[in-house]
Amino acid sequence: MCHTSQMPITATGESLNFKVMVHKIHDGANLPSVLAGTPYVVSPGVDYSTVVFPQDLRNCQTCHASASATDAAIWRMFPGQAACGSCHDNINWTTGANHAGGQQINDASCANCHDPVQDAEWDASVPGAHTVEYKSTQLYGLVMNILSVTQAKPGQKPVVKYQITDRNGKSMDPRPFDTLRFTLGGPTTDYSSYVSENAQATTTWDGTTATYTFQSAVPATAKNTWMLTCDVELTVPLKQGDGKPDNTNFTESPLNPIFYIAMTDATAVPRRTIVDIAKCNVCHDRFGGHGGQRLVTQGCVICHNPVADDSSQRPASAGKPESIDLRRMIHRIHTGDQLVQDYTVYGHGGRAVPFNQVAFPGDRRDCAKCHTSITTAEVPTGATLNVVTQRDFFSPQGPATAACTGCHDSRDVAAHALINTAYFPGSTAPAEACGTCHSTGATYAVDVVHAR
Ligand code: HEC
Ligand code: HEC
Ligand code: HEC
Ligand code: HEC
Ligand code: HEC
Ligand code: HEC
Ligand code: HEC
Ligand code: HEC
Repeated sequence: MCHTSQMPITATGESLNFKVMVHKIHDGANLPSVLAGTPYVVSPGVDYSTVVFPQDLRNCQTCHASASATDAAIWRMFPGQAACGSCHDNINWTTGANHAGGQQINDASCANCHDPVQDAEWDASVPGAHTVEYKSTQLYGLVMNILSVTQAKPGQKPVVKYQITDRNGKSMDPRPFDTLRFTLGGPTTDYSSYVSENAQATTTWDGTTATYTFQSAVPATAKNTWMLTCDVELTVPLKQGDGKPDNTNFTESPLNPIFYIAMTDATAVPRRTIVDIAKCNVCHDRFGGHGGQRLVTQGCVICHNPVADDSSQRPASAGKPESIDLRRMIHRIHTGDQLVQDYTVYGHGGRAVPFNQVAFPGDRRDCAKCHTSITTAEVPTGATLNVVTQRDFFSPQGPATAACTGCHDSRDVAAHALINTAYFPGSTAPAEACGTCHSTGATYAVDVVHAR
């Protein structure tokens, strides 16, 4: 009612018209104007230039949904300078600059070219122009299944039989794929080591089933249950509508398979399930780590384990390595702009990836936004390993400390956690007292202190 075109332009020259403002806020860091160097300051002191929508903004229907079919189609029915020029804010309608359709003096003809119904992906229609690559119907719809793993005891070289199929269930030859990399690690109680192998050169394929034999043996010391997963990438050229050149390549990946293998256990014991990727994807739509190839949280932990860090990518000049333990990393990333400490991980190619600007769109006390339930966010009882946190106030940290200080990263809390951590005579492993006050049912239980 208030945020209409009648709202006066702000002191910083911005529109408060709802469709302009809401689009621009969520495009924040990726607005053409911001990328060109002008921050998006709606009114003095209110700067949205660091906002990153946690999924592809071309998913118009994440916001444009409605019980009424007519209302739900508004986003594609009424193109206009205000609504479209909000995200596309480098278009000059008077001169036609940055608009392949040229000058447009008003909204009268927009829908002639940007029609509401798509003929082909990436045509000029509103839905077509905003096709998201990972949703393209031109993709294969890859599915990967590990059928069996034999010779997988400590000291042996595992033989993996697997199948990659398209959406019609037709088996595909994986040898020409761009990436085919198996990772085998364990134990599932808390991962601490893994081997990763490129399977491309020696995979065989009999027309239905592919077979890969590991080059390296399972460590003789392997215990309990281990897990096998795979990274797969296939480049798919995507045809563009309206006669545009087909120059878009997309790298398609199936969900990473997760296959548990008993080493010394009688039967395989899967890792405990703490979070649910479907909950992550309420915000992320389709979370894809490492360029989009890693899609399953049960696969992240094999590498993002308590002893893992970014030392392989971090330059010596950038100091001690940062822990990439999943609980610490995901808690720190989403605490983002509320963090006291710096949280920067060095990624592929030695690139610094800072997370202190992340704005979490919700209340972090709602643990079940990511966790399967509040139970898996309680002081952990299943965790076995301490977490190496060389850049924090102290290291190593017990498993509960690493989880809680993922969000509560101040020096005071570190001190509180440290004095509640004992080193029993003869042991170098920290023993945590957290449960006496913070466990389920205790006075300061996790669900009690995070109640909203
Ligand atoms: C972050 C949420 C959000 C996303 C994502 C989003 N919109 Fe919107 N959009 C809005 C809001 C809010 C309005 C104004 C609603 C109102 O006036 O009731 C709006 C209005 C519009 C309008 C104006 C309709 C009219 O009747 O004037 C169009 C057109 C539109 N959006 C197109 C799109 C397109 C195309 C996309 C995807 C590329 C998109 N929107 C993505 C929130 C969003
Ligand atoms: C919520 C933000 C948002 C809104 C609103 C929006 N777009 Fe887009 N649009 C995008 C993004 C993101 C892309 C991907 C390419 C890019 O980054 O410019 C895109 C791509 C396009 C493309 C393809 C351009 C190319 O270079 O391939 C066209 C055409 C287009 N939009 C037209 C429109 C029209 C018409 C409207 C109004 C109905 C509109 N957009 C509204 C975000 C938006
Ligand atoms: C004569 C046809 C025509 C008309 C009329 C027209 N456009 Fe376009 N517009 C195009 C074409 C062609 C493109 C480029 C499409 C592409 O790259 O996929 C384009 C691209 C766009 C884009 C994306 C720009 C980018 O970032 O690449 C937006 C936004 C847009 N038009 C909005 C509008 C609006 C709003 C109107 C009405 C005020 C309008 N157009 C009228 C043909 C037209
Ligand atoms: C309430 C919404 C929300 C939920 C739920 C959520 N995230 Fe996020 N996440 C965000 C926002 C916002 C960002 C920052 C946007 C950005 O930089 O891409 C972000 C950033 C990230 C990043 C860093 C950026 C990147 O793409 O690498 C990772 C990794 C991540 N989230 C993983 C997860 C995982 C795993 C879960 C579930 C266990 C999860 N998120 C649940 C909102 C959410
Ligand atoms: C095969 C091992 C492996 C798997 C599986 C893996 N990662 Fe990573 N990841 C790493 C390593 C190692 C680093 C540290 C920097 C480096 O060496 O690239 C890292 C760094 C990161 C970073 C920070 C740097 C950046 O580029 O953004 C994020 C975010 C991340 N991983 C998210 C994930 C998520 C989420 C998953 C599961 C969906 C996952 N990773 C699965 C090994 C892995
Ligand atoms: C943005 C997503 C997200 C939110 C919100 C979140 N967590 Fe977590 N949490 C994770 C991830 C990811 C892990 C590691 C999962 C794994 O190892 O499989 C984790 C692990 C944990 C663990 C370790 C459990 C174990 O068995 O090792 C605890 C404890 C924990 N979180 C507590 C909390 C509490 C308390 C809250 C709410 C105040 C919370 N988390 C909110 C993502 C989140
Ligand atoms: C996902 C982030 C997250 C995790 C993980 C998390 N907390 Fe919190 N916690 C919060 C937030 C947010 C508040 C509200 C106060 C604030 O902003 O600091 C809070 C509040 C509290 C409070 C109330 C004190 C106060 O300052 O209001 C206690 C006690 C607490 N947490 C203990 C824990 C313990 C113990 C753990 C580990 C088992 C934990 N938290 C894990 C986010 C988290
Ligand atoms: C003797 C009881 C006791 C023990 C043991 C204990 N805590 Fe606490 N903790 C508290 C109390 C009391 C508070 C403050 C509660 C409040 O403000 O509501 C607190 C607060 C916290 C907070 C929130 C601090 C903040 O304000 O941001 C965290 C995180 C936390 N504890 C983690 C831990 C961890 C990790 C351990 C184990 C290493 C631990 N605690 C052991 C009693 C305890």
